[in-house]
Amino acid sequence: MIIRNATPSDYGFLLQAVDTWWADEDAHDQLDPLFVRQFSDTGFVAEEGGRVIGFLLGCTCYPDNPEGYIHMVASDPCCRQQGVASALYGAFAARVRQKGCSKLVIAINPANHQAICFHLRLGFEHDRRVCDSELDGIPVVSGYAGPGQDRVVMVKQLDPA
Ligand SMILES: CC(C)(COP(=O)(O)OP(=O)(O)OC[C@H]1O[C@@H](n2cnc3c(N)ncnc32)[C@H](O)[C@@H]1OP(=O)(O)O)[C@@H](O)C(=O)NCCC(=O)NCCS
Repeated sequence: MIIRNATPSDYGFLLQAVDTWWADEDAHDQLDPLFVRQFSDTGFVAEEGGRVIGFLLGCTCYPDNPEGYIHMVASDPCCRQQGVASALYGAFAARVRQKGCSKLVIAINPANHQAICFHLRLGFEHDRRVCDSELDGIPVVSGYAGPGQDRVVMVKQLDPA
């Protein structure tokens, strides 16, 4: 498996892949080309034998506490539980650390229990500083992604570069 930066030429494939790789029907709309154009230095794909088997799209944000924000991450259902997403996270963490970030942040749909479990496994924690309510016992941020769109916000501190 190789990990490389995502490019605009990957966009068409990712758009098709997201429909079959993701149960969330909103995922298609979230796949903005911005992430393979303006933010391509923090977008990665995993390839095996020339075939894309996973992707992670993100960006860096620079408020007081610089953070690497993960917009989307997915692996091909045929290749799950084989370290594809963790390898993508490794590349992303290394890149954003180089850019001065001290933590990773992701906002997850509360219905996506698998993604929450996966991120806990990777060492993410609920960001309880920003949570303002709970859904089925899970801390969420109300309206994080727009009106009525609550999200589970998770963070992981990065070791210094
Ligand atoms: C979540 C997802 C990205 C994980 O990808 P993956 O390539 O299977 O992940 P990895 O193989 O790198 O797994 C890393 C670790 O997480 C664990 N893990 C993976 N999926 C898991 C799950 N659904 N539940 C619990 N643990 C999980 C693995 O067992 C592994 O643990 P280990 O280090 O002890 O071996 C993948 O299931 C996916 O694409 N889901 C659909 C898209 C999605 O929901 N994305 C997240 C939106 S925020």
